Amino acid sequence: MSTDPGYDANGTLPLTRDGRAVSDRGGTVCVIGAGASGLAAVKNLLEHGFGVDCYERETGVGGAWNWRHDRSPVSAGTHLISSKPMSQYPDFPMPDAWPDYPAHGLVLSYLERYAEHFELKPHVWFGTEVVRVEPAGGDRWDVTTRSTGGCGSQRTSRYAAVVVANGHNWAPRMPAYEGQESYRGEIIHGSAYKEPNQVRGRKVLVVGGGNTGCDIAVEAATHAARCWHSTRRGYWYAPKYLMGRPTDQVNAGVLRWRLPLWLRQRLMHRVLRLVVGDLTRFGLPRPDHGVFQSHPIVNGQLLHHVGHGGIRPVPEVARFTRHSVILTDGRELDPDLVVMATGYEPRFEFLDPGLLDRDADGRPRLYLHTFPAAQPTLAVAGLVQPDSGVLPLAHWQSVAFARWLRLREAAPQRAARFRERVSGGARGRWKDATPTDSPRHWFEVSHDVYLRELQRALDDLKAVPA
Ligand SMILES: Cc1cc2nc3c(=O)[nH]c(=O)nc-3n(C[C@H](O)[C@H](O)[C@H](O)COP(=O)(O)OP(=O)(O)OC[C@H]3O[C@@H](n4cnc5c(N)ncnc54)[C@H](O)[C@@H]3O)c2cc1C
Ligand SMILES: NC(=O)c1ccc[n+]([C@@H]2O[C@H](COP(=O)([O-])OP(=O)(O)OC[C@H]3O[C@@H](n4cnc5c(N)ncnc54)[C@H](OP(=O)(O)O)[C@@H]3O)[C@@H](O)[C@H]2O)c1
Repeated sequence: MSTDPGYDANGTLPLTRDGRAVSDRGGTVCVIGAGASGLAAVKNLLEHGFGVDCYERETGVGGAWNWRHDRSPVSAGTHLISSKPMSQYPDFPMPDAWPDYPAHGLVLSYLERYAEHFELKPHVWFGTEVVRVEPAGGDRWDVTTRSTGGCGSQRTSRYAAVVVANGHNWAPRMPAYEGQESYRGEIIHGSAYKEPNQVRGRKVLVVGGGNTGCDIAVEAATHAARCWHSTRRGYWYAPKYLMGRPTDQVNAGVLRWRLPLWLRQRLMHRVLRLVVGDLTRFGLPRPDHGVFQSHPIVNGQLLHHVGHGGIRPVPEVARFTRHSVILTDGRELDPDLVVMATGYEPRFEFLDPGLLDRDADGRPRLYLHTFPAAQPTLAVAGLVQPDSGVLPLAHWQSVAFARWLRLREAAPQRAARFRERVSGGARGRWKDATPTDSPRHWFEVSHDVYLRELQRALDDLKAVPA
């Protein structure tokens, strides 16, 4: 045993970083976030025999679906837009008695039941925020945490691997218009819209044609004194049901026919023409892209309210004056409240941007939006925006990562095949139709294309027979 100062009783040099003690967690994997993706990662890593420490900045599980959380983007009226079978984890079905499109409270209760059933909570450090994740050599990671809100001291622990599951729908993407700073009305981001009282009796302008903008416009149609809905392009509006079945299930049925994309697009154009009709009759702009080329907007009520005069479609905002908003067609509106439903930016403040191969715009370039080319023991879970549910994809992403960690110990040569796939696939798209050029499509995937590629990866990573 060494008696040198700095060595501990076992004769080993205690780990330090920047003069701070580092606690060595051995082969344990760190998971950041206990939302839907983080919970799936904790469960699948435990099932593959790993120790797991999960850090969650909030005091409960559920992430975006826990609307008590500060950063939750859901509002009182939010329901799933992906139907139940397309939204649930493959190994934990939602109850049969639940409706096709559960409300956000049911989704939270589903995630809480999942955490209970698989006994995940003992592995989660609640109220603990990850502030830094740094390479520690030997493909290991130093993870620095503190109590949420910044009180208390920081603590650094060293892990064998890290899964980042911090969500990508919480940091508002706010546009900046000329004159906006001197505007006297109220401007909020769509994530700050929580319930209809915020628009009751007011003149409201909703900017943005994604699902958030459409949902808020629909609520404003019945509660606000007036509602304008500004979009910078035309969209396809899918109803929640086709022929009495949830639309995503009908779509999944059509996918089974294995028709070429152009034929599926033509088929869906016909169906929408028949069910929804000519959008320009409602005063909406004609879509500037084909069906399946943008993230689906699933809203059966928007056109109803446009047709009843509750929602007035207007073009893009050009600029603000002190008391009004000027549109690109020169019209002047005088809203009391402007809701910017303009989407979200991905944020990874605790990671050096290079570690996720982020490009100049800040967009990570990862194989399957999950695996960085140069960081074998780092993965991101849930950084996808599918045309159906996120949870099944997040489940299989974390199974793949757990299998990869096991295989690199057991069969390095076979594991190398997977790394080749990762290096070659960082710029993949996993989307059948080319999406419109918008940051909202950075992580857009077609669930069938994505799962097929993930299945290939999972095949590469099959366990070595004992
Ligand atoms: C309004 C709305 C409706 C949606 N509807 C659907 C739908 O119908 N179907 C569907 O499948 N998906 C839908 N989504 C997508 C939704 O984001 C996913 O269903 C799911 O919530 C993703 O889970 P996640 O764990 O990846 O992210 P999140 O749910 O955002 O969870 C991330 C977690 O990480 C924690 N965290 C973040 N940073 C840190 C840190 N530094 N340290 C510690 N903890 C941290 C957060 O507190 C949070 O708990 C919707 C999204 C929105 C905004
Ligand atoms: N379950 C539900 O009910 C529900 C409800 C809400 C949201 N969601 C999900 O949550 C995620 C985020 O949805 P979201 O609607 O908040 O964001 P989003 O899909 O990113 O849509 C943002 C919208 O704002 C527009 N926009 C962005 N920047 C703009 C600018 N500078 N000027 C004018 N318009 C601008 C975009 O136009 P472009 O198309 O031109 O880029 C788009 O119409 C999606 O996955 C969505 O499906 C689900």
